[in-house]
Amino acid sequence: MKTLILKGHVVFTPTSKNFEIHENSYLIVEDGVVKGIFKKLPEQYKNQEVKDFTDKLIIPGFVDLHLHAPQYVNRGLGMDKELLPWLETYTFPEESKFRDINYAKRVYKKLIEDLWKYGTTSAVIFSSVHKDSTKLLMDLFINSGMRAYIGKVNMDRNVPDELKEDTEKSLEDTEEIILEYKDKSPLVKPIITPRFVPTCSEKLMQGLGELALKYNIPVQSHLNENVSEVKWVSELHPDFPNYASVYDRYNLFGQTKTVMAHCIYNTDEEIDLMAKNQVYAAHSVHSNFNLSSGIMPVRKFLERNVPVGLGSDISGGHTLSIPQVMVAAIQASKMKWLESDKKLMPLTIAEAFYLATKGGGSFFGKVGSFEEGYDLDCLIIDDSTINNSDIRELSVEERVQRFIYLGDDRNIIERYVKGEKIDRPQ
Ligand code: GUN
Ligand code: FE
Repeated sequence: MKTLILKGHVVFTPTSKNFEIHENSYLIVEDGVVKGIFKKLPEQYKNQEVKDFTDKLIIPGFVDLHLHAPQYVNRGLGMDKELLPWLETYTFPEESKFRDINYAKRVYKKLIEDLWKYGTTSAVIFSSVHKDSTKLLMDLFINSGMRAYIGKVNMDRNVPDELKEDTEKSLEDTEEIILEYKDKSPLVKPIITPRFVPTCSEKLMQGLGELALKYNIPVQSHLNENVSEVKWVSELHPDFPNYASVYDRYNLFGQTKTVMAHCIYNTDEEIDLMAKNQVYAAHSVHSNFNLSSGIMPVRKFLERNVPVGLGSDISGGHTLSIPQVMVAAIQASKMKWLESDKKLMPLTIAEAFYLATKGGGSFFGKVGSFEEGYDLDCLIIDDSTINNSDIRELSVEERVQRFIYLGDDRNIIERYVKGEKIDRPQ
């Protein structure tokens, strides 16, 4: 058995209600799984090495529930357009470059290094339509030691010719990746990825739903992101009552574990269906601002027990920093409350932290918390450059707040995934 003992201020959110804080305590991990948190080191561990981070913060690693790996080099570009013209102008031309595996390698190595840098230890990722680049991304992730679901994008209509897939070939390539990667790594897994309804024929969605059920593979896509997109879906599928019902009809909506990005314009029926099928919403607030998409009423989803996590949505979103996404999610929820509905109470900081850790982490299993039985994915935070302790002592909870709002990668001194220290990916 491999034992890891970390000492420091242990901070996590077992529920969204409050932080649980154990000041200068011992976090004990066996074979990558949390055994317990103790104020005094239990007798049986007396002879074990303790990694001593006294007075530093130990928090769960961040979870990014939605991002597009091949859009990495477009971060911060083209933020003056709405979703559909942005896809045509910036995104599809960039994604078509990933036919070239050497280009993919240069970008994906940098992306993985950046995720590591920002403390994202788990991510749910769209690659491009290209099979070989997708496999490369999965292999690079496996080498990194970080956790991910990675999906080859499927699309066979309404996209430029160089990205348009033959329906049968799209399904064959997807099945090949599933067979090759479903048991290859405990931390990096395939996920079925119809881009969104407008780019997927019914035949393609039918086939993808069958693959999801056949191999019990999770699903990711986009839902109700932008007014023009929602209108387009209703024109393409006039016989369906709403956008979500199209995915649902093809077994792509919670029949296996599913995450849908955005969910800004969900009807009450669609929110109820997400609750019933336990479909996750990936709240990708930076992207929703940048592409003028709107503000997701996140409180409505939480009240109805829809599982929710946060997404950077690179490159609709401009940064991989999940703390920055947390800040924006809190700010957006305040504007929603103030400007449109006084019943939708703003997110608290503990709620935002929960969404960024245990909320999104539950998509991966027992991830994102330090309760007994959870996989130990954590960050060690040295906030001495930002906490001004020489002027005024902050409480541990205040230090966490300060780190979320003002911290950056320079404050993250170590990262662990399933009990293993993760070094900067090469
Ligand atoms: N909808 C379909 N494709 C995309 C994408 O790449 N980014 C975002 N934000 N929405 C999408
Ligand atoms: Fe997206």
